[in-house]
Amino acid sequence: MSFTQEEIIRSGYKLQAAPVDSWRFYDEINPIPGYFQFDWLSSRHPDLYHQFALSTVGLMEKLHTIIDLTGCDVLDIGAGTGRSAMGAAQKAKRVFAVDFYLSVVLFGKSQLQRTNLANVHYINGDREHLPLPENSVDVVINAWAELNPKEAYRVLKPNGYLIQLGAIPNALCGELTSELAPDYPWLPKDCAPAEVFNPTYPDRQDTADNSIWNGIPVIGSINIHQFTYVAHYQNYSEAACITGRLYGSKAKRYFMTREQSTFSWRLQIIMGQVCK
Ligand SMILES: C[S@@+](CC[C@H](N)C(=O)[O-])C[C@H]1O[C@@H](n2cnc3c(N)ncnc32)[C@H](O)[C@@H]1O
Repeated sequence: MSFTQEEIIRSGYKLQAAPVDSWRFYDEINPIPGYFQFDWLSSRHPDLYHQFALSTVGLMEKLHTIIDLTGCDVLDIGAGTGRSAMGAAQKAKRVFAVDFYLSVVLFGKSQLQRTNLANVHYINGDREHLPLPENSVDVVINAWAELNPKEAYRVLKPNGYLIQLGAIPNALCGELTSELAPDYPWLPKDCAPAEVFNPTYPDRQDTADNSIWNGIPVIGSINIHQFTYVAHYQNYSEAACITGRLYGSKAKRYFMTREQSTFSWRLQIIMGQVCK
């Protein structure tokens, strides 16, 4: 069944997923859901989003070198198809994976059944009204998703950790950012220089104050760890197909003409300890 973009949005968070692999066929001039519509793309085509989301694997691998989640109850806000929640579950006691879109939750649960993880619990819920009581988790993670810092603060135990994971602000589309920025008004035009995508580019540590989280009380400063990660797709035509569906034909051509199956990202992990 095909929809218009308006019908997809109107049908809301209960929209069913389209059949696996159906994302491979679409109108390149007027795709539905449109390019960069990440929430709608992942709810309509969770199998596409799951294959794309390898940067989250890199984020979670790095996170385990920065903090030990052993024995922790972790809440993953905007858990999506499960890359972040399942990554956290390698160490955590329990992971509560919250996502608003029902199709994504169902897809995530199906992915879980393919693993031997028994400690991930999907919950259909909204980041604005988290379905957990106050002071209930040790760690909140939020990977490639929007955050309501006040709500995250409410559910964290005293001295709990809030952790935001994603790209540095001027490299939201990884090494493709400067290629795509001229075509999309919402991408920052002062793109990160090409050198940061070289896998040997050094990690960088920085700090921020709590203004980045709307002033929620934190202990000391918030730490930012930046690093370069190279994601490997099956082959270059698959890299072109996946990124082309998410970002448009320029992205597709980028991987096809270079016969490139890797995708390099400058990622960051922002971590702070709440004060209650
Ligand atoms: C870009 S995905 C990130 C998924 C996952 N954390 C990862 O890194 O692979 C963002 C997710 O946020 C979810 N989302 C959007 N609005 C939300 C809301 N109000 N509450 C909870 N989740 C939401 C979307 O359904 C989507 O799965």
